[in-house]
Amino acid sequence: MARQAIAVMASGRGTNLAAILEAATQGKCPVDVRVVISNKADAPALRIARDAGVETILFLNPKDYQNRTDYDLACADVIEKAGCQWVVLAGYMRILSSAFVQRFKHRLINIHPALLPAFIGADGVGDALRYGAKVAGCTVHLVDEEVDSGPILAQVSVPVLDSDTRESLHARIQKEEYKLYPETLRRMVEQGFSLDGRRVIWNQSI
Ligand code: GAR
Repeated sequence: MARQAIAVMASGRGTNLAAILEAATQGKCPVDVRVVISNKADAPALRIARDAGVETILFLNPKDYQNRTDYDLACADVIEKAGCQWVVLAGYMRILSSAFVQRFKHRLINIHPALLPAFIGADGVGDALRYGAKVAGCTVHLVDEEVDSGPILAQVSVPVLDSDTRESLHARIQKEEYKLYPETLRRMVEQGFSLDGRRVIWNQSI
């Protein structure tokens, strides 16, 4: 099975990006991270991309664009020009415009540190902890026009412990993210899926 090119968009630490790069190097995930884009000049994700030798690494400053759509379409042009099949959001903390979502329909995925549809938004981990949930986790999903609402590709749960802080719970969730994201990408490339309404139905493995 040929490797497929992906673009990763990240605003922060980039540990999910690092996990995907590592899985790809180890032959566990048949993707080639060809583009990394960040909206933050100082995002550690950019350094991780540089260290890994990613071909196209870009910081695009939202302030240089008139509006969200213009910014997103500049990102989309870079991604398409590089021939990426998939766009992978890894801690990308900006809401995407409808124009961007439409352009990469069913080829745009995100990871969220909660068991969707619970605890959408910027602080899924803190919200789950404050709510008193006893089970938390992470979700990989297709991105649609609403926040954290697209069809679910994969989920993993972790327990919430009485001793948990936001940091300890997030660390436990992230350990799972680092396995779930590359594994879901692998299935997307090797297995493929179809949609039945909101349900993602994975093709039979050959
Ligand atoms: C991850 O835990 C991811 O699930 C979360 O940001 C973190 C990024 O970490 N994403 C969201 O909260 C999106 N709503 P990383 O930069 O180290 O990969």
